[in-house]
Amino acid sequence: MSFPKNFLWGGATAANQYEGGYKDGGKGINTSDVLTAGSHTTPRRITWIKPDTKETGSINMDLGSGSPMVFPEGAVPAIVEGEYYPSHVATDFYHHFKEDIALMGEMGFKTFRLSMNWARIFPNGNDETPNAEGLKFYDEVFDECKKYGIEPLVTLSHYETPLNLTIKYGGWKSRKLIDFFVRYSTTVMKHYQGKVKYWLTFNEINIMQWGCFMAGGLIDDSDQAKAQGAHNQFVASALTVKAAHEISDEIKVGQMLAYQPMYAYTCDPADQLYVLKNAQNTLWFSDVQTGGKYPAYKLKEYERKGIVLETEADDFELLEKYSADFLSFSCYGSSTFTTHENVEAGSGNMIMGIKNPYLQTNAWGWGTDPNCLRIALNTLYDRYHKPLWIVENGIGWDDQKEADGSVHDSYRIDYLRQNIQSMSDAINLDGVDLMGYTMWGCIDLVSAGTGEMKKRYGFVYVDRDDKGNGTLARSKKDSFYWYKKVIASDGADL
Ligand code: BG6
Repeated sequence: MSFPKNFLWGGATAANQYEGGYKDGGKGINTSDVLTAGSHTTPRRITWIKPDTKETGSINMDLGSGSPMVFPEGAVPAIVEGEYYPSHVATDFYHHFKEDIALMGEMGFKTFRLSMNWARIFPNGNDETPNAEGLKFYDEVFDECKKYGIEPLVTLSHYETPLNLTIKYGGWKSRKLIDFFVRYSTTVMKHYQGKVKYWLTFNEINIMQWGCFMAGGLIDDSDQAKAQGAHNQFVASALTVKAAHEISDEIKVGQMLAYQPMYAYTCDPADQLYVLKNAQNTLWFSDVQTGGKYPAYKLKEYERKGIVLETEADDFELLEKYSADFLSFSCYGSSTFTTHENVEAGSGNMIMGIKNPYLQTNAWGWGTDPNCLRIALNTLYDRYHKPLWIVENGIGWDDQKEADGSVHDSYRIDYLRQNIQSMSDAINLDGVDLMGYTMWGCIDLVSAGTGEMKKRYGFVYVDRDDKGNGTLARSKKDSFYWYKKVIASDGADL
């Protein structure tokens, strides 16, 4: 079975993990620029300075551990001398974009998902006018895409907030950020009109509840701050949809959700209810941003917890009237949950669960689920009846490069083959409206969760290690040739 002729095959990246050039062309500093590298077992750290005394230090970045993120009195996040920050060079798309886009063209990409670095366009986040050099950089990138017939899909904010907005306003906790973001989104949608049709507002908006520094630039991780941060992003997203439609009917703005099917470990009703509640904990974000309404279960929860949102009179009308045009999501695998004890813990892409005995896992504990995408696509399509787009799927592996530059990544091909088959079933057997598929990290980049280089996802290997050594040279993995064949056959030849 093949895919529709206009299906958007491609790959995905994010500026904070790929672009580098962190000070080039007048770019400002982002929250991601103060994050050190970590590992599978060691958390990434946020470094800080006390501006009065110049004392420096760091705290662990919380990614769902539940331990509160507490900065010492008077400390603000900052770049500290002597620390290593993977985002600063990353895999240097900034200086390699022509070469990289040519490689994407060679694979036959129809689309390329990248994120725009907010601080490259508005260095302090709240500037009155955009940085011309920043605008020029992305002009060149989009012109290069056009040469190869590649349609850009641009995320406006992928795990980064201009650091100034975090220091001055506490990040997305403040409603001020709505106006700053809308100024940014409107500026770029107008500027790149005719070059960019597809935009996403916030990467994995639901990660706000576990990784609020990454997803919302928050330094206050209370439930109240996270709820307000999400609400402010919803309103900013609605205003961006409104602005897009005023600029041109051609422009479509999507939501981006971190999604994975959730399974109960047993048929114990307690397990079933537990899974339902876990699923709602993700889906309420798309109920609001794509569905247009806060679900009753979330409002009840806020009431119980004493969370009171700061809102303006027309917020809820805006959310309903300008819900997202389409729903995009990341999906790497499924999660399994239970209320029972004595089960082995699992590991996944931020939404953790327990180990599913039916799945094979990689070194980071992520399982390969052959039905994952079909289940995800059916669930989301049944719920919202809007076009969907898989904008992240892939597998991180410590690939070994041979002396001749080749990488034999048969495990990646196996994973992708199963996932693409599952996606094909959702289209061809279930009739789901799927716009496209962008494999995550198509050219090796830094891991968001661990800050490592060795957790590689790409079709293209980049010579760079966890300490920042390497030539940054690109070489093609076996999966490069395989994906090229998949695209050329419209998904028929897996
Ligand atoms: C998604 C993020 O959650 O997962 C990406 O949107 C991230 O930024 C990807 O890189 C894979 O996770 P990790 O931690 O392996 O980089």
